[in-house]
Amino acid sequence: MNIQIINGPNLNLLGVREKSIYGDSSFETYFVELQARYPNLTLTYYQSNVEGEIINKLHEIGFSYDGVVLNAGAYTHTSVAIADAIAAIKAPVIEVHISNVYKREEFRHHSMLAASCKGVIAGFGMDSYRLGIESLIVK
Ligand code: DQA
Repeated sequence: MNIQIINGPNLNLLGVREKSIYGDSSFETYFVELQARYPNLTLTYYQSNVEGEIINKLHEIGFSYDGVVLNAGAYTHTSVAIADAIAAIKAPVIEVHISNVYKREEFRHHSMLAASCKGVIAGFGMDSYRLGIESLIVK
């Protein structure tokens, strides 16, 4: 099973950025743990701060991969274009957030993407990504 993890803007700074909200692990460190935990899955990771590059990645893998775990960062709350890309591809997309966006500022309470996704996971720290994977592998 091929699962693509995509991180959007500012998530390259995990472990450095607002540690009280996002924790002190880099995604690269966590990704090694995820790969070790799921030796039978092919997990791939992509990060971009650029909206169009996230869309290009969704198009590239979205017709051949079995699922996508997407943390679109702030684009979650703004991007019609990423919502359209999710709707256009075949692979199911799980929207994930490290923080509980519903406990935070009101502008984070609305997702432009959620209606095009299979489901949404928020608030479990880095474990949100693992829960996203679990939701894709459970039939
Ligand atoms: C985030 C929540 C977003 O509101 C924020 O813009 C992010 C990270 C999260 O993982 O909690 O960049 O998606």
